Amino acid sequence: MPTINDNFLKLAAGYLFPEIERRVAEFTKGNPDAAAKIIKLGIGDVTEPLPEACVVAMHKAVDDQSKRESFHGYGPEQGYAWLREAIVEHDYLARGCDISADEVFISDGSKCDCANILDILGSDNIIAVTDPVYPVYVDTNVMAGNTGGADEVGDYGGLVYLPATVENNFTPELPASKVDVIYLGYPNNPAGSVATKETLKKWVDYAKEHGSLILFDAAYEAFVTEADIPRSIYEIQGAREVAIEFRSFSKNAGFTGTRCAFTVVPKGLTGRASDGSDVELHGLWQRRQSTKFNGVSYIIQRGAEAVYSESGRQQAAGLVSFYLENARIIREALERAGMTVFGGVNAPYVWIKTPAGQTSWQFFDTLLNDTHIVGTPGSGFGAAGEGYFRLSAFNSRENVQEAMQRIGAVLAV
Ligand code: MLT
Repeated sequence: MPTINDNFLKLAAGYLFPEIERRVAEFTKGNPDAAAKIIKLGIGDVTEPLPEACVVAMHKAVDDQSKRESFHGYGPEQGYAWLREAIVEHDYLARGCDISADEVFISDGSKCDCANILDILGSDNIIAVTDPVYPVYVDTNVMAGNTGGADEVGDYGGLVYLPATVENNFTPELPASKVDVIYLGYPNNPAGSVATKETLKKWVDYAKEHGSLILFDAAYEAFVTEADIPRSIYEIQGAREVAIEFRSFSKNAGFTGTRCAFTVVPKGLTGRASDGSDVELHGLWQRRQSTKFNGVSYIIQRGAEAVYSESGRQQAAGLVSFYLENARIIREALERAGMTVFGGVNAPYVWIKTPAGQTSWQFFDTLLNDTHIVGTPGSGFGAAGEGYFRLSAFNSRENVQEAMQRIGAVLAV
């Protein structure tokens, strides 16, 4: 019999979103009449169709695959140059960031990349995460054996938790001691907060001073509505010496089911080998990807390229505005119902203080039972998320309006 990776046994709970699905399935089993009424504002999964420009490009790419002259087999491991060049032109050079196409790696998702990046890092790093946090950062470190076990609130030994609270505007203070790796995500999932240039500069300065690596998750950058808020960490001078950035087409262009993302690993960004030498992370990531990943399909990469066409950009911006309008509807309805809400302005997530005395999971049950609305309990994102609840703006307008009507009616009683 093979032995197993015992680190999996340290995981305190199932992965958050399947766990929610499990509870919803249990509820509908006991309440079959409620099943049709359930509205899901839990996982941040898009509902609206792909931008027309992407659909047309993918249809054309399918036709390319039907002819020997335009057929594509294995693509370049890092992704096609035409996609990487479009990314650099529109997402980086246009915003004054010094990033080149050979520093961009196309992938099938930011979640996978955030997890896989641990392959190229040592097991003795001191790792900091914000709290609440996107659970993937924590769970993958547990799986990799980079933590101890969980305590009674679900915090894992060995990780440095940086609380994101009302008092600090959900942008944590710098660690009190030296850490080697820091996960940051802005616009933030789950709190919907953003980091100003000054805040990100503080982090970049900290990383430079301590030789730390920042793993910056910018999956929600398209939702930034305020002009001064950075969309990429590379808008901060010196960030390319300390940061890897994760980006996705999932939320800006509706690719959650289509799958395309990218990671930027700047050249010159190094880590320390056990013999004391400095090694470029770019080369290690290239080696890792070319060994363990066969790239994103030609058809999907053509679809992603179309996000940068003139019509694609307009249509993707239309999708983002649509979801931001949902976020506004959610925010304002909950405020009218007397709740304290955060986020939802530069992010598709609204972060809610649970009503008096209810834990996050109790409020989850209240909403599910009384309104048949599914959200995400804040405590699922970490101990500091207890007493909070996340609603996602990714749904149809009709469902969002109906959900707010139901919640308003229940909370007003
Ligand atoms: C979320 O709901 O937090 C996101 O959907 C997670 C993800 O994108 O993986």
